[in-house]
Amino acid sequence: MEEDCSAEALTELRERQPSALELLQVAAGSGLAAYAVWALLLQPGFRRVPLRLQVPYVGASARQVEHVLLLLRGRPGKLVDLGSGDGRIVLAAHKCGLRPAVGYELNPWLVRLAWLHAWRAGCASSVSYRRENLWKVSLRDCYNVSVFLAPSVLPLLEDKLQTELPVGARVVSGRFPLPTWQPVAVVGEGLDRVWAYDVHSGGPAEQAVPGPSSASVPGAPAAQAD
Ligand SMILES: C[S@@+](CC[C@H](N)C(=O)[O-])C[C@H]1O[C@@H](n2cnc3c(N)ncnc32)[C@H](O)[C@@H]1O
Repeated sequence: MEEDCSAEALTELRERQPSALELLQVAAGSGLAAYAVWALLLQPGFRRVPLRLQVPYVGASARQVEHVLLLLRGRPGKLVDLGSGDGRIVLAAHKCGLRPAVGYELNPWLVRLAWLHAWRAGCASSVSYRRENLWKVSLRDCYNVSVFLAPSVLPLLEDKLQTELPVGARVVSGRFPLPTWQPVAVVGEGLDRVWAYDVHSGGPAEQAVPGPSSASVPGAPAAQAD
């Protein structure tokens, strides 16, 4: 008898259509959960950064990291990743011999995650992740700079790089090119594409443009198909 009742109740529950109020409650609950994730995990650190300069976290693809390293291969001097996320580029650069390798990241959770990755890789004492606003750090001694930021902030970034980087520095930009500088090399296709720019005394914009989508790096494989 009891079994009949619970089977009946189950069938009734399965067949019943949710009411508009229930749907509304589910939608509100999901919205609240999404807001909580955003406020607790993604937003910290950005409170003092103007909205137009806020760039969300998206990790570089494995292929993109490979391309960044290819374009920085064999270069001496310090590497910095501006907006280092979970630290994957800094860690990979350190493993390839670029030292010191430093990441600047605003989101404290990502900084912690980066340290965790470095610790697991046995590199915690060799790399550096700093919770700092990339717009406020000095780049005067940086000869290798990696960026993977939103196109909307790149014009402003160009100005900062132009003003602060020493002659001889190289900038590699993942997924989005710097808007007015002329690249010296381009590797990869689509989302994995990375552009390299060198700072000469005449300024980076003075340099020759490589052929269209030539993906040319001396000694490197040509454009790699996805
Ligand atoms: C598109 S993600 C790239 C992450 C990492 N560089 C990678 O390639 O995997 C951009 C990162 O920049 C960080 N970021 C955005 N604005 C920043 C700022 N003003 N100072 C420091 N980090 C910032 C974001 O938190 C995010 O982690």
